[in-house]
Amino acid sequence: MGLELASRSTLIAPSATLAMGAEARKLKARGVEVLDFALGEPDFDTPANIQEAAFRAIRGGHTHYTPPAGIPELREAVASHYSKHHGLKTAAAQVVISNGAKHSLHNALMAVCGPGDEVIIPAPYWVSYSDLVKLTGATPVVIPTTEAEGFKLTPERFLAAVTPNTKLLMINSPSNPTGVVYSRAELAQLAEAVLSTQVGVLSDEIYEQLTYGDAQPTCFATLDPRLPERTITVSGVSKTYAMTGWRIGWAVAPDGVSRFMGDLQSQETSNPCSVSQWAALEAIAGPQDSVAVMKAEFTRRRARVLERIRDLPGITCTPPDGAFYAFMNVSTYFGKVLGGNRIEDSTDFCMQALGQAGVALVMGSAFGAEGYARMSFATSLTTIEKGFDALKRFLVD
Ligand SMILES: Cc1ncc(COP(=O)(O)O)c(C=O)c1O
Repeated sequence: MGLELASRSTLIAPSATLAMGAEARKLKARGVEVLDFALGEPDFDTPANIQEAAFRAIRGGHTHYTPPAGIPELREAVASHYSKHHGLKTAAAQVVISNGAKHSLHNALMAVCGPGDEVIIPAPYWVSYSDLVKLTGATPVVIPTTEAEGFKLTPERFLAAVTPNTKLLMINSPSNPTGVVYSRAELAQLAEAVLSTQVGVLSDEIYEQLTYGDAQPTCFATLDPRLPERTITVSGVSKTYAMTGWRIGWAVAPDGVSRFMGDLQSQETSNPCSVSQWAALEAIAGPQDSVAVMKAEFTRRRARVLERIRDLPGITCTPPDGAFYAFMNVSTYFGKVLGGNRIEDSTDFCMQALGQAGVALVMGSAFGAEGYARMSFATSLTTIEKGFDALKRFLVD
């Protein structure tokens, strides 16, 4: 008899974005040219000064265990990042360094959620949120938002979803997958609603440095002096510094929560990679020129993507104010035939786009929003042009 899995194993599905990436890789391995817009990671190399810091760390013997919550230098630097960029006074003791922001989210949820608790998640949401909540035994309560509402949760909708069991509200601005950036005033109204309840906030601010035009990121905890004691802020180096593979993220949390998150890591992973921590220190405390260069390139790509979407028949997109995704409304194709196949939903649309046009997108349903397909523009302009040429042929022929 095989080893029976725990009931927990039924709670989660593999991440849909990674699954789409894997499907695309399979086609590539068969020699098919795939224009990959599925994965959410910058295509740039990690900036040279950060690479050098990692080499220095290795040569300097920083290859041993570190404190479970991270090296003091990095925790201090993250705390200073919050005072410098957001005006939030934070002690290094409140900062916990983890193996990527995803790990920070998991540990934060483990710290405060359990069976019987509810976590409010506005949809569209990042693929992992609901499964990470389920892993703790808590229940995700998904509140759909519409494109007409700007994909934003209103205080009224939030308050209507609150029950005596609501533990947390998860908020993500700039958002993956929509690119929506809440204005400070909108978040202040949401904060007021939150403060009229006992609910805490888990604010995922991983795209904080990637905003376009007039859009500005807001650190949720800064909206009211009462918020830091009930807010966990998550961010990291993956997106801003093209460091997805280094696996460094962090949480800034109230004392008890950060202490538990560190203890959890001490039992679970010991510490985030020592070398990566020194590299992340250089990323946030060193020169920031590379961030501006990468952002300028994302800005160019975004403009081109929006231009080319306008040229696609039947597809619309609310321009993203942040992150590097275009969340395209593809619902006009539902019930129609494309490439000889009937399209019923966003999964059909994305599967046909991959199979027939070699274009890898992610279905909106993975983000709790049927009717859409997410295109990541963290890829070269050449791929973008080729991808849209292929998509247009696929839609028109
Ligand atoms: C909204 C959001 N949060 C968190 C993460 C995870 O970041 P990391 O690679 O640092 O774990 C991602 C990555 O795609 C993301 O889009």
